[in-house]
Amino acid sequence: MCALRPSDRVFVALDTPAMDGALSLARCLGGMVGGIKLGKAFFTANGPQGVERIAATGLPVFLDLKFHDIPNTVADAVRAALALAPVMLTVHASGGAAMMRAAADAAGEAGADRPLVLGVTVLTSLGAEDLAATGLAGPVADQVMRLARLAQASGLDGVVCSAREAAALRAECGADFKLVVPGIRPAGAAAGDQKRTATPAEAVAAGADYLVIGRPVTGADDPAQAARAVIDEIEAA
Ligand code: C5P
Repeated sequence: MCALRPSDRVFVALDTPAMDGALSLARCLGGMVGGIKLGKAFFTANGPQGVERIAATGLPVFLDLKFHDIPNTVADAVRAALALAPVMLTVHASGGAAMMRAAADAAGEAGADRPLVLGVTVLTSLGAEDLAATGLAGPVADQVMRLARLAQASGLDGVVCSAREAAALRAECGADFKLVVPGIRPAGAAAGDQKRTATPAEAVAAGADYLVIGRPVTGADDPAQAARAVIDEIEAA
């Protein structure tokens, strides 16, 4: 974790179905950030070929498809994802221990090129009242901790969590367990649909290894400058 440069820690989320827009953003961020996170909107519109075109810019790809299905199906999906050589991929930790174990085992088939397999705990757009509406009573932090423990016990490399839970997870899961934190909002940026947000400096201080930042960079007039400001803030933290 200490060996990571501030720029390596930043993954920019390209949540768009537009291939050309994604490609020009990736080109303008090339060499500046740790990588690009591609999710469901991009993948559904552009498929594996679209991912390959982004990867061809030279930026590492975090494939955030948040798999959540029966273990056999998730293992097959992870195997299919390996062909795209992502550096990280995600499954929902709420899919359970057997599903996460199947995902970790499938990823292991890539050997030295194995991507980090991360468990999504509780989406940063959800608050306590949203969890309660799904039948999960109790504080969000408790559910995040429960899912992170399960993810670690199931062989995952880390979890996606909000900065608010990062310090407790770092203490519980140890230095090697990767903490990937979305919901990053530099001071003054609009929260949008995110509820559990933090600034870049707060997320790093809380123990985040990687920060995922989307709209504050992709929606900026000058995305490269906005990414640079995030990296500078991490550097100064
Ligand atoms: O635009 P914004 O910075 O809110 O983008 C955050 C990204 O992180 C989105 O791609 C979203 O899918 C993802 N994410 C999240 N909360 C999680 C896991 C992933 O916001 N718990």
